[in-house]
Amino acid sequence: MRGVGNYSTFFRKAPTIGPRHNASIEALRTVMDPKRVPAAVLDFVAGHLRDTFPHYTWVGVYRLDGDTLSLAAWKGAQATEHTRIPIGQGICGLAARTRETVVVPDVSTDTRYVACFPSTRSEIVVPLLADDRVYGEIDIDSDAPDAFTPQDRQFLEVVADDLARYMKARG
Ligand code: SME
Repeated sequence: MRGVGNYSTFFRKAPTIGPRHNASIEALRTVMDPKRVPAAVLDFVAGHLRDTFPHYTWVGVYRLDGDTLSLAAWKGAQATEHTRIPIGQGICGLAARTRETVVVPDVSTDTRYVACFPSTRSEIVVPLLADDRVYGEIDIDSDAPDAFTPQDRQFLEVVADDLARYMKARG
């Protein structure tokens, strides 16, 4: 099994996004080693994203378990009561069903949105997709309106691709 030290063959070539984003991708890749247990890896990913990007107010990683998303790791000021989300519900369910990133610039105007925190103004959900299978998703809430730029989306799609490869390798 390939792991730390040989990850250039395990992950796809990352595009140049920006110094902070590319440094983050490198840091996260060193931790997404299939020899490491998911609890530690997913905790690190959530914590790193929350701590590195101030507009990522709350970061969660959900795993897809049958037809239900289950919260596996999170970092933010408060816990969410939405630890299990059926794929028929919310922005999280939508991203899992469509296998596409969903960006909500203003959560107050999106009827599909399921509220977690009163302070949230915008949200991005990026599915973890490998070989046509959805392993879960990264869900980020921001207290800033319209917080997620095309650069954020590009960056998070690389992180999600990396994480899906890791989860696939873990079996
Ligand atoms: N807002 C999400 C629910 C999860 S919380 O943001 C943690 C949704 O609409 O699916």
